[in-house]
Amino acid sequence: MNQDELKALVGRAALAHVQPGTVIGVGTGSTVNCFIDALATMTPRIAGAVSSSEKSTERLRAHGIPVLDCNAVERLPVYVDGADEIDHGGHMIKGGGAALTREKIVADIAERFVCIADESKRVDTLGRFPLPVEVIPMAAAQVARRLRALGGEPVLRQGVVTDNGGHILDVRGLAIIDPLAMEAEINQWPGVVTVGIFARNRASVCLLGTAQGVKTLTFPG
Ligand code: A5P
Repeated sequence: MNQDELKALVGRAALAHVQPGTVIGVGTGSTVNCFIDALATMTPRIAGAVSSSEKSTERLRAHGIPVLDCNAVERLPVYVDGADEIDHGGHMIKGGGAALTREKIVADIAERFVCIADESKRVDTLGRFPLPVEVIPMAAAQVARRLRALGGEPVLRQGVVTDNGGHILDVRGLAIIDPLAMEAEINQWPGVVTVGIFARNRASVCLLGTAQGVKTLTFPG
């Protein structure tokens, strides 16, 4: 199976974690696009979705799935999203598609985070994928200096403005041994909107697409 087939496989598998008639959280990216397409085939349907990006909103609406304002929803039973990397504890790097801030907001109101990913995303230590950090534009240079002091090599993602009007720094060279601590550290710097480490909002379960089929990894606690 190629990578696209693995993405389609886990996108369909995630339907087993969705109750018809409920409102669910929906992430962003090519794997989630497969999930959204699978959702459209579900009967009975979900009541609606809280979306993490304009792109996902557009795709959900094209399938006739109602999209609700995040502020109108107190709790979601489940949030389904992809990842750029996921480790053995369910900690993730996200934001390759620049939607990290809204993704973290929607994940934060969900009881369970169902991560869908192909096996190339599974790592022992986070940090091979350049860590995205969304910043308020005027803070980009200072946040980049702080990231360099941590041992990273930040590069401004060219031509990208997030759905929130932010810019993205992609940081190479960080070995993220303690994801919770690094998330907390970077998040508190002035001008950082969101760091793409999802440790506090880590996955509850990961549906990993492998050549042998879907492998379910659970991360209790
Ligand atoms: C979007 O900002 C990201 O967090 C995505 O969830 C992540 O990049 C995974 O995307 P793919 O499913 O396209 O690999």
